[in-house]
This record gives sequence, C-alpha cells and structure tokens, in this order.
Amino acid sequence: MASCRTRTIALISYCQLLLILVIAADVPVELYSPIIGQKLLKIASNETAGQYPEYTDRENGAWQYFDPNVWTVGFFPSTLYALNNRSKLCPSLSDGTDWLSLGRQWSTGEIPYETTNELVHDVGFASFPFQDELLVNSANQTALTAVNDFATDLANRYNPIVGCTRSWDPAEPFEVIIDNMMNLEVLFVSAGLTGNDTLRQIAISHADHTIANHVRPDGSSFHVVEYDSSTGSVVRRWTAQGYADNSTWSRGQAWGIYGFAIMFANTGTQRYLDTSRSMATYFKNNLPSDGIVPWDFDAPLTPPRPADTSAATIAATALLLLSRMEQSLSPPNTTGSQIWSDFAIQLLDKVTTLAWKPSWQSLLSNGTVDNHNQPLNNLTGIVYGDYYYVKAGNDLLSMGLTQCPSKSSTTGSGSSPRPSSSGAATDVSRLLFLVMGVVLAVTSGNL
Ligand SMILES: *[C@@H]1O[C@H](CO)[C@@H](O)[C@H](O)[C@H]1NC(C)=O
Ligand SMILES: *[C@@H]1O[C@H](CO)[C@@H](O)[C@H](O)[C@H]1NC(C)=O
Ligand SMILES: *[C@@H]1O[C@H](CO)[C@@H](O)[C@H](O)[C@H]1NC(C)=O
Ligand SMILES: *[C@@H]1O[C@H](CO)[C@@H](O)[C@H](O)[C@H]1NC(C)=O
Ligand SMILES: *[C@@H]1O[C@H](CO)[C@@H](O)[C@H](O)[C@H]1NC(C)=O
Ligand SMILES: *[C@@H]1O[C@H](CO)[C@@H](O)[C@H](O)[C@H]1NC(C)=O
Ligand SMILES: *[C@@H]1O[C@H](CO)[C@@H](O)[C@H](O)[C@H]1NC(C)=O
Ligand SMILES: *[C@@H]1O[C@H](CO)[C@@H](O)[C@H](O)[C@H]1NC(C)=O
Repeated sequence: MASCRTRTIALISYCQLLLILVIAADVPVELYSPIIGQKLLKIASNETAGQYPEYTDRENGAWQYFDPNVWTVGFFPSTLYALNNRSKLCPSLSDGTDWLSLGRQWSTGEIPYETTNELVHDVGFASFPFQDELLVNSANQTALTAVNDFATDLANRYNPIVGCTRSWDPAEPFEVIIDNMMNLEVLFVSAGLTGNDTLRQIAISHADHTIANHVRPDGSSFHVVEYDSSTGSVVRRWTAQGYADNSTWSRGQAWGIYGFAIMFANTGTQRYLDTSRSMATYFKNNLPSDGIVPWDFDAPLTPPRPADTSAATIAATALLLLSRMEQSLSPPNTTGSQIWSDFAIQLLDKVTTLAWKPSWQSLLSNGTVDNHNQPLNNLTGIVYGDYYYVKAGNDLLSMGLTQCPSKSSTTGSGSSPRPSSSGAATDVSRLLFLVMGVVLAVTSGNL
C-alpha cells in the first residue's frame, strides 16, 4: 500500500512536471519583468501622493490621480501587496524593496472612508488591501476593522424584497450591475471573522438573483438590471458602460466569471460553478480570432473597436480561479482545469503582445474604462488591469503552471524576443504528454 502510494505520488509529480514543460512555453516573460517592480516603486515612492492612480492619459500613459473616495482606490495598494507575494514566490528576482511596508502605507489613505464613503457596492474592492494584510498578519486590528466595516457597508445596501445589495446610489431606481458579483467576497471574509451568517446569506441571495436576472441562457450577461424595490420584480435591463442594452460588455462578463467562481469557492454550491463555466464558455466562444478582447463583444467592427485589456486580465485571473475550482472537485476535473488555465495563458499572451508598454507608467495600454459615456475613455492604462496582470502572474507561479524566470532572462527592455515555442513543438509535447498519461494510467491500474 505504502509503495503504491509512493509510486502514485511519483507519477503525479512526473505528470505535473510534464504539464509545466508543456505550458510554460506560452507564459509571457513580461509577466515577471523587473520593469513591473521599477514602475510600481516609482509611483509608490511619490511622497506627494494621497491621491490614487486610476487610469492614464491616452498619449503618454501618465497616471491620472483621484482622491481616495473612488471605487478603484484599493487596487494600487493591493498591487504593492501582490509584489510582496511575488518577492516570496521568486526570492531570486527580489531587489530588496519592502513592498509590504509600501502596501501598508498606501492602505492608510482609505481608512477615513470605511464607514462614510461614496464607494457604493465597491466597498468589496476597497477592502482588498486589508484582506491582503490579514493574509500577512491575521491579528492586525486596523485591517480587521476595515474588512468588517466595508462588509457592513455592503450588507446595509441589501433589500430583502429584491434579494440583492444595491449597486448604486440613489436608492431609487434600485439598480444592480453584474460587477457587483465581485464585491460579495468581503461578506464571506467578514462572516469568517465574525461568525455572522447573515452576511453569507446576503451574498447567496444576491448571487442567485444575478443568475436569474443578469445571465442569459447562452452564458452572456446584461450589465444593469433595474428592480422594483417594493415588489422585487425586474423593471428593465440595460447597459451603462457597454455598447447596447442587449450587448455583452466584456469587463462585466469577466467580473461575472470571477464572481461566480468566488461563490463556488466559498459555498461549494454546484450552480455557481455551472454559472462561472457557462460565462467562461461564452467568453471563449466569442473571442475574435485575433485573440484580443474587445471592449464589448457586440461592438461593431468598424471603425476598429478598441480593446479592453482590463477585461482580458480580469478574465485571465478569473479563469485561473475557475481552473483551481475544477481541480478541487473530487475526483479532480483535470481536463476542465486545463481548459481554463490554457485559455487564461492564451489571454495573457495576447494581451502582452498587444499592450505591454515599457514607456508608459502603467504596465499595459489599451484598457477601455468606458466607451459609452461622453467623453469616451478608451486605450489607456488602467490600475485594475495592471493589478490583475500581476495577480495572474502570481497565480500561475503558485499553481505550478510556470516557474520563476532566471534573473538574466528578464533583464533588458522587455522588447527582447520572447522565448515562445512554435505551435508544432507544443503540439508534439502535448501528444507526448497524452501518450505518457495513458501509459502511466494503465501502469498505475496494475499496481
Ligand atoms: C505624484 O502624485 C501626484 C498626485 O498625488 C501627481 O499629481 C504627480 O504627478 C505625481 N508625480 C509623479 C512624478 O508621478
Ligand atoms: C498572495 O498570497 C496569498 C497566500 O499567501 C494568496 O491567498 C493571495 O491570493 C495572494 N495575492 C496575490 C495578489 O498574489
Ligand atoms: C495594520 O494594517 C494597516 C492597514 O492595513 C497598516 O497600515 C498597518 O501598518 C498595519 N500595522 C502593523 C503593525 O503591521
Ligand atoms: C450580522 O450582520 C447583519 C448585516 O450587517 C447585521 O444586521 C446584524 O446585526 C449582524 N449580527 C450580529 C450578531 O452582529
Ligand atoms: C439587440 O436588439 C436589437 C433590436 O432591438 C437587435 O437588432 C440586435 O441584434 C440585438 N443585439 C443583440 C446582441 O442581441
Ligand atoms: C491599442 O492602442 C494603440 C494606441 O495606444 C492603438 O493604436 C491600437 O489601435 C489599439 N488596439 C486595440 C485593438 O485596441
Ligand atoms: C470538467 O470541466 C469542464 C469545463 O468546465 C466541464 O465542461 C465538464 O463538464 C467538467 N466535468 C466534470 C466531470 O465535472
Ligand atoms: C476612443 O475615444 C476617443 C476619445 O474620447 C474617441 O474620439 C474615439 O471615438 C473612441 N474610439 C472608438 C472606436 O470608439
């Protein structure tokens, strides 16, 4: 028995090693470029700050700064925490920067807005740096208070007749956007800290109503659903940031894949896994052949429609979580897991080729904040696009889907040729992997 298990474990690690070899070839090296740390350190060291970067201009890629009372406030500090993670994942790439101190420093600007703010449903995003802090120091009282306060803010937006937390102010009309799915996680985190199950129930109710009213049968999504706050019935469905009321705004679709994967991670409830899969399948099947995520899947092709690289990096990070969820099933859904991680890597590869921008302050260009409302705001760097690019890079490492590059392979301008294997080589290794898998499965059956 013992030797059988040992042999099985040896087989698994051999398979995993092979999997790494097959997939690593497609992971863009820019994800681990020292340019990332250099750019972030420059912005993080800006002593005049107190204002937070949100998006860049279109010409030079210079960050535009906003006061902390905006929905994106948490992403810059969370990116600094993510680089703290990165320095642990790849110690050899670390240049000694104290990312943890910088993350903590940049979080403090949010504290005055914990209980009184204009963050509406986005308090979940605002809580990210404090959630990050709790992963480092679970006893940090400032962070505990922040997470619980932000969760209470969101819970206070819950209407039991509608069954949802209200996304926007004012209270009427009662509007819920697909993005709101991303803010439910703070309710689970706070419930875990306080034992308050009401918070979990609110998240579950919101998610169930979103499945019923936002997600279409083909897995695509509406951006906004307006409810009657006194009867709970749907009044209308429309878009605030997408191309049309019945189109599929790509960033909203990405938030949906992610939000339902988070729901499954926190509840183990099958319908959330199914919804995340179905939204991811729509994203995959509707991606144009050039692999570039357009700002809206239904936006006309002429004039050329701008990309939204933030939708691509959010979707990639979401798909990596979905991949982990497939792997968490018993038995693990290895095929499903690989479908999603391969697709995530494909998105990251395309986004890097299109939008990696060493000369800009942001990491990426070609983000579209809002191409619906005047003035149109497209083709910029975006702080959350960059955050999810870095997080996806971390996740690929912690999932064993790539390895830290050697220091020498990442130096330089970032414009050096990328070591990507040819399609043919990849196919050969995939075939080899398949054959080995069959041989090993047969062998292990005989053990
Ligand atoms: C420093 O931050 C301020 C906003 O707080 C901004 O206006 C200024 O451009 C930044 N300086 C640099 C060099 O990035
Ligand atoms: C940082 O690492 C923790 C585990 O230590 C993980 O839970 C978290 O998702 C990571 N965050 C990022 C942004 O890499
Ligand atoms: C606790 O967390 C807050 C905000 O997350 C941070 O500013 C502060 O430095 C942390 N305190 C300690 C002692 O680490
Ligand atoms: C649990 O959270 C809900 C929503 O914020 C709140 O109304 C309720 O008072 C909390 N219960 C306890 C025991 O703190
Ligand atoms: C949206 O509805 C209009 C008609 O109201 C129709 O012409 C169009 O094809 C629809 N678009 C989508 C993406 O369903
Ligand atoms: C990407 O941005 C550049 C300008 O920064 C623009 O010329 C190009 O058309 C954009 N491509 C897409 C697909 O958005
Ligand atoms: C495995 O994952 C794929 C992709 O999500 C899904 O289509 C398939 O039904 C899953 N299989 C099982 C047994 O869960
Ligand atoms: C992108 O934004 C610019 C500036 O607001 C606008 O003039 C242009 O029409 C937009 N591009 C597209 C394809 O919508």
